[in-house]
Amino acid sequence: MLTIALSKGRILDDTLPLLEQAGIVPTENPEKSRKLIIPTTRDDVRLLIVRATDVPTYVELGAADVGVAGKDVLLEYGSHSLYEPLDLQIAKCKLMTAGPVGVPEPRGRLRVATKFVNVARRYYAEQGRQVEVIKLYGSMELAPLVGLADKIIDVVDTGNTLRANGLEPQEIIAHISSRLIVNRASMKMKHAELKLLIDTLEQAVETRC
Ligand code: ADP
Ligand code: PRP
Ligand code: MG
Repeated sequence: MLTIALSKGRILDDTLPLLEQAGIVPTENPEKSRKLIIPTTRDDVRLLIVRATDVPTYVELGAADVGVAGKDVLLEYGSHSLYEPLDLQIAKCKLMTAGPVGVPEPRGRLRVATKFVNVARRYYAEQGRQVEVIKLYGSMELAPLVGLADKIIDVVDTGNTLRANGLEPQEIIAHISSRLIVNRASMKMKHAELKLLIDTLEQAVETRC
């Protein structure tokens, strides 16, 4: 049995057409179903529906063999033991700093609101910059508008969310896309199945690009 961890929303939407190329089609709609384990048209493959930030945890600890996670989530999770054999080239965006339009940075300690606290600490530490990192779980764009923080770090695609809140994109921290991740032990124990899956998905990514 191969277990694949996915999150609802854009990762599921963009990954299902790729999985279909490997003959893997969910037998019920994961967006609508309340079930969290979804069988597929292949009896040897099932899907787990988890939160996007939990995908690396399921795969690293072996509750899933394989998963699909944004590079932003992987950078923040910071595992050295997960394999990352394939860039699926989906859910592309940029991890960026952003702040209020036309407002100069404060001189002293910068206050940065983000859900990517590890990424934020690493980024500013590399610049030797003193920052106070404020952990949020969403709606980061609000923080500078109400004086909670000077800046945010979040993913940016069109920039519409920033603009709608009077913020501008500033520095690019990383270019982001979603990656296939694989559990280390699974890669050994289920090598043949996983190699076939990875090769098939690689083909699917190439023909789609
Ligand atoms: P969440 O519920 O955690 O926000 P999403 O489905 O919105 O989950 O995001 C999943 C992944 O898709 C993120 O980890 C990121 O890599 C990418 N992503 C997030 N927002 C965007 C966006 N606006 N455009 C493109 N990719 C995005
Ligand atoms: C993501 C992200 C930004 C927005 C960026 O939110 O957290 O808010 O997309 O995209 P843009 O630059 O095209 O506006 P998402 O749509 O995933 O909503 P969420 O708050 O439910 O995560
Ligand atoms: Mg989101």
